[in-house]
Amino acid sequence: MNPINHVAIIMDGNGRWGLKYKKSRNAGHKAGLNTVEKIIKETIKNKIKYLTLYAFSTENWKRPKKEINYLFSLLENFLIYKIDDLNKQNIKLKILGVKKFTKKLNKLLSFSEKKTSKNTRLQINLALNYGSKFELINAFKSLQKKKISINEKNFCRYLLTKNIPDPDLLIRTGNTKRLSNFLLWQLAYSEIFFEKKLWPDFNEKDYNSIIKKFKNIKRNFGKI
Ligand code: IPE
Ligand code: IPE
Ligand code: MG
Repeated sequence: MNPINHVAIIMDGNGRWGLKYKKSRNAGHKAGLNTVEKIIKETIKNKIKYLTLYAFSTENWKRPKKEINYLFSLLENFLIYKIDDLNKQNIKLKILGVKKFTKKLNKLLSFSEKKTSKNTRLQINLALNYGSKFELINAFKSLQKKKISINEKNFCRYLLTKNIPDPDLLIRTGNTKRLSNFLLWQLAYSEIFFEKKLWPDFNEKDYNSIIKKFKNIKRNFGKI
């Protein structure tokens, strides 16, 4: 059985869910937050150490302002109301991405990271204003600038995921089969599951069934 240390999730389908059931994309984002809480709990139950959640891509800035503002207000409230609880549960929060939001949100994100930085039970990496191409180019530029030789080991040290093991498992909900600029380097050997359900409908049972399937896959890493 495969050990499972790191799960990454592209939480897709909120907008479609919202339009289908509540005639508003934003209602879908709100509903999606409940799934986030469920999946965090289940990740802990499964004793998984890292959970990376794709919450906002560098390309998502192309969405209408109203939707972007709503997404960040949801995140702001989530942190304000839940960070103490996450901290008590010994969860560490790390932001993957450039903190270029409102002053208030930037501060709140840094505060939340600092507050939970010593926690050890589960590390949640929130990919926020994250883009893999940007991350890769940045890593190359840093190595070049510091005249450090370009090899795999040095390169990894300049990624946003420095010190984080690569995901064992990637799940994308929402019935779409693409990576959308997510962890292009880190997913080189991850097992990938595309799930038909929209993110707000995804539940503990779906998650556990994927984990069970993952555990039985023969992972070769090039060997036989
Ligand atoms: C994913 O859901 C959440 C974010 C990108 C913030 P979407 O908002 O992309 O939902 P669909 O794909 O439009 O249904
Ligand atoms: C990917 O979903 C980003 C997040 C889930 C945050 P998108 O809905 O933005 O991806 P595309 O645009 O359909 O590829
Ligand atoms: Mg989408």
